[in-house]
Amino acid sequence: MARDKKLIIGNWKMNLNMHEASLYVHSLEKMIKVRRDVEVVLAPTIFTLQSLSLQVNRRQFKLAAQNFYWRDSGAYTGEVSATQLRGIVDYGLVGHSERRHIFHEHDKDVRAKVQAALRNHIRPVLCIGETASERANNETEAVLHDQLIGGLANITSEEIEQVVIAYEPVWAIGTGQNALPVDVTRAVKVIRSQIRHLYGKQAADSVQVLYGGSVKAESAADYLAIDDVDGLLIGGASLDAHAFSEIIAKAHRA
Ligand code: 13P
Repeated sequence: MARDKKLIIGNWKMNLNMHEASLYVHSLEKMIKVRRDVEVVLAPTIFTLQSLSLQVNRRQFKLAAQNFYWRDSGAYTGEVSATQLRGIVDYGLVGHSERRHIFHEHDKDVRAKVQAALRNHIRPVLCIGETASERANNETEAVLHDQLIGGLANITSEEIEQVVIAYEPVWAIGTGQNALPVDVTRAVKVIRSQIRHLYGKQAADSVQVLYGGSVKAESAADYLAIDDVDGLLIGGASLDAHAFSEIIAKAHRA
């Protein structure tokens, strides 16, 4: 997808049951218009994905998986593969800080999932970002560098254009303490320069980079105004269809 479209992803995390999810989509459908300059993506729990995939108008919303296993099939009790999600989702979150920190996913898992997504025609949204202590120690740049290298190893220069990078500083997730636009600008520059180093200028100019972390309807425009930021990854505020529709409206105007 070209960078002239803003990408707005709502990550519902472990919230909304089937009934609530369906009601949500009904109300959001009425609140937003299909815009050529905005792509809206919902990332519900794996449990509600299948039924929502039958309900949503794919021109209005795309779907994303919050997680999946990197093997295509086999004896992996409790897991769902990218192969099984193929055709249902267009995007898949990979390396979200909650997966890294609560479920102990390491770069080798992240990397295998990026590859599994690409192999199954799902665009991986590679989430990277520093913790509060890494930030306090001025390690942000090094962390972004390591997580990019760790997550993208073995990805070719053709494949990189399918990957979306989300800068989500861990200290800003679910805390109400959102990053300052100046910090986001700096981090996104680091990300693009690392992509340039790995894949060249064309890839660095065309890869989509998002910001996520305590974005609300009131703060969305500040991030969308940053030249290098192509959209937002929203947690808490995406659970309120009204707030989420306001953010989408701001992306249209950005
Ligand atoms: P919040 O918007 O709730 O801080 O969550 C951000 C996030 O983790 C999106 O993936």
